[in-house]
Amino acid sequence: MKMLLLTLGLTLICGLHALKNNIEDPKKITGEWFTVVLASNVTSKIEEGGSLELFVKSLSEHDGILSGEFLKRENGKCIPVSLTAFTGEDGEMHFTYDGFNDFSAQSMDSEHLIFIMYNTKDGEVTVWGELYGREKTLPEEIKKKFEKICERFGIRKDQIRDVSNDDRCQKLR
Ligand SMILES: *[C@@H]1O[C@H](CO)[C@@H](O)[C@H](O)[C@H]1NC(C)=O
Repeated sequence: MKMLLLTLGLTLICGLHALKNNIEDPKKITGEWFTVVLASNVTSKIEEGGSLELFVKSLSEHDGILSGEFLKRENGKCIPVSLTAFTGEDGEMHFTYDGFNDFSAQSMDSEHLIFIMYNTKDGEVTVWGELYGREKTLPEEIKKKFEKICERFGIRKDQIRDVSNDDRCQKLR
């Protein structure tokens, strides 16, 4: 009985720890968001119509599982995309989209959220980042913070795309 409880306890701790590593309280990041800046070391993927040009609409959480509603362009048309994250045996968070993605939140507060992701498709790894805002745009200092984080992950300044003045498939919101 003691052993069982211990195992159960450890499983719980480990399960929570994985999520905690990245996102302390998933409830804090639920609700409506806008993609304000996109970045990738393969810029063609975040350009208009690129596979990683993903615009967030909202995030939600259920029993510790994070999911989101997104918008993207396909053949010139905006379409909705739903994604659900899962925690792998490695304790990291992943989701399936245009291949396989590892992700983590690098910065967050009440007005912004920064995700860095590693996309693996056909054996090729692409690093990409998204800066989300609660509003359609964000102050310069937060954009600067995003630049710094991108740099740390090997994304250069000229590989960053500010979309705050672009059409982000707003019609579908
Ligand atoms: C992009 O970054 C990933 C991860 O660091 C790296 O494996 C890949 O070779 C890079 N791609 C390019 C085109 O620089």
